[in-house]
Amino acid sequence: MPGIEAGGIAVVLVARSAIAAAPRAEMERLAGQVSGLHEIALATYAFTEQGQPALREVVANLRRRPFREIRLVPLLFPMEASFRAWIGRTLARWQLEWDTEGPAIRIGPGPNASERLTDLVSDLVETAGREKPFMPAEHPATTGSVVAAAHRRVLVCQGGPCNEAGAAAIWGHLRNEQEGQSLRTAGSGMMSATTSCLGPCSLAPVVQVWPEGTVYGGVNEAGIDAIIREHLLGDRPVESLAYPANGRKQALRLRE
Ligand code: FES
Repeated sequence: MPGIEAGGIAVVLVARSAIAAAPRAEMERLAGQVSGLHEIALATYAFTEQGQPALREVVANLRRRPFREIRLVPLLFPMEASFRAWIGRTLARWQLEWDTEGPAIRIGPGPNASERLTDLVSDLVETAGREKPFMPAEHPATTGSVVAAAHRRVLVCQGGPCNEAGAAAIWGHLRNEQEGQSLRTAGSGMMSATTSCLGPCSLAPVVQVWPEGTVYGGVNEAGIDAIIREHLLGDRPVESLAYPANGRKQALRLRE
C-alpha cells in the first residue's frame, strides 16, 4: 500500500481479481492518479476475489486509521447490480469480526454511472482503429499442457446460496493463500476450483475436499485457514467444520 496520510478521505478502487503483475501495476497507477484529487488523503486498490491486496485486509487496515470516511469505488464493467449489495453484505460479515466501529464507509456506483463513460468508450474505439490488424499466424496453437500430480482438489461452491453467504470472498482467500503458501506443491499438493451447487445449500458457504470428499459448511476465511493448516498440510480433516456424508439432512451448527 502506498504511503499513508491520515485525516481525510481514503479511497479504495475495487476490482474482482488479478493474478499477474501487470494488472496490479495498472491499479496502482490509477490509485496514484486518484491520490492527487482534492480531499483524498490516501488512494489504494483491492480485489474482492483472487488478488493481492484483498479487500478484507485493505478495509481492516484503513478502519484502524483516523480517516473521516472510506470510499469504495467498484471498477467493474459491465457493473452487476448485485455487486454493490454483495460488498455490503460482505462488509457486514467482516464487521462482526472487527471490534471497533471505524470511519463511515461509502460504496460508490460502477463506471456505468459516469456521464463520461461515452467519452471513454469513444476514445477506446479510436485507439482500436490504430492497432495493427490481427494475424492468426502470430498466435500459434499450444502443443501440450502439464497434468498436475497434486493429490487433493478443493471445490468451492459458487451456487446462489453459497454466494449469498460470501463464497466469492472465501474463494479469493483460498486462492491467495494457495499462491502465498505454494500449496500446489506443499505437502501432497492441491488444486482448487469453483463449482455450481454441491447440494447441501443450507450449510453455505460449502467447500468440499477430495479425494476424501469431506464436506465443510459455514466456511469463512478463518475456516479456510484451518482447512489449509489441518487438512491440506496436516492430512487431518477439520472436525469442527466437517459434516458427514451420510445421506441425511443436516443443519449448520452454531459456532461460539
Ligand atoms: S449453492 Fe452451495 S451447496 Fe448449494
